[in-house]
Amino acid sequence: MITLGIETSCDDTGIAMIKNDREVLCEYLSSQIKDHSEFGGVIPEFAARKHLENILPLIDVATKNYKPDLIAVTRGPGLMGSLMVGVQIAVALSQVWNVPLIGVNHLEGHLFAPLIDAENLEPPFLSLIVSGGHTEIICVKNFGEYKLLGCTRDDAAGEAYDKAAKILGLKYPGGPEIDKLAKDGDELKFKFPVPLKNTREIEFSFSGLKTALLWQVKKFESEEILKAEINNLCASFQKSITDALISKLNLAVELTGINKIAVSGGVAANSNLRERLSEQKNFKVWLPKISRCTDNAVMIAMAGHNAYKRGVRNINNKIIPDPSLHEF
Ligand code: KG4
Ligand code: ZN
Repeated sequence: MITLGIETSCDDTGIAMIKNDREVLCEYLSSQIKDHSEFGGVIPEFAARKHLENILPLIDVATKNYKPDLIAVTRGPGLMGSLMVGVQIAVALSQVWNVPLIGVNHLEGHLFAPLIDAENLEPPFLSLIVSGGHTEIICVKNFGEYKLLGCTRDDAAGEAYDKAAKILGLKYPGGPEIDKLAKDGDELKFKFPVPLKNTREIEFSFSGLKTALLWQVKKFESEEILKAEINNLCASFQKSITDALISKLNLAVELTGINKIAVSGGVAANSNLRERLSEQKNFKVWLPKISRCTDNAVMIAMAGHNAYKRGVRNINNKIIPDPSLHEF
């Protein structure tokens, strides 16, 4: 069975074809990062227009060699205009080709990303989804059977990286920029808080950390001092985010007794987080390859195919995009 995955929830137009569970036949991604970076963030209206420009040429290339038996499309959460482009095209194609259509929750897509290259990961396991919009730990009891164990009270970790980068005068998206500069910094130079580190709840909070960075930057008397310290600031800020994520993963393992963890979402590309995860003794970690941490269509195809295999069906092949969709 061949599944066409379509992802347009934010600013990446992703198209992919997979065979059966996870064999990737082709994948294409048209990123809009350059278009939005001069504005310091994603402009929703502009993103939707760009998806419209990009999506049909990508589908054209993908369908040159493969004909899908199933279409899986992101139906939310995300930006309404962006979601509508992917969903409308998916509905039209499913009618023209007469193939079934599955609407996928973007978060369930991320949850599947570490499984693309990992045949040996079976439920139950824990999933940390850490992206620009979400920071949550989920218990995957079975595919399709998920329990939210905890999430962020305020900013998502990726959002904190993006806001911190703005404070430091770096480009959007901030995560990769901070990751790069932190490599030459001393993570112990500045002591930023690790929010909620010692509570026994699985919860995160990153907005205070961003404010702590802002106060530190305000203390500098000149731009030159900021420039001289920027690598150290990035490394110290990054350490606090990684510390918070690792400490709550350890707590989740302790509370559930489950010691297999899949990590996904844009922040899973962070080199410090990946290194620290690989050193953990209490749990084993599965990570997607870097290019599949951020939004992509392979993860949507895989989640859609899995749902179809579980018997999920979409009556009338109708899908309503839902920007604030939460439950899987
Ligand atoms: O999963 P994603 O592509 O989109 C959402 O669903 O949100 O994640 C994008 C987020 C951005 O906030 C970006 O700054 C962050 O992931 N990110 C990183 C890195 N690469 C992307 N954060 C830290 N380190 C990175 N290397
Ligand atoms: Zn995402």
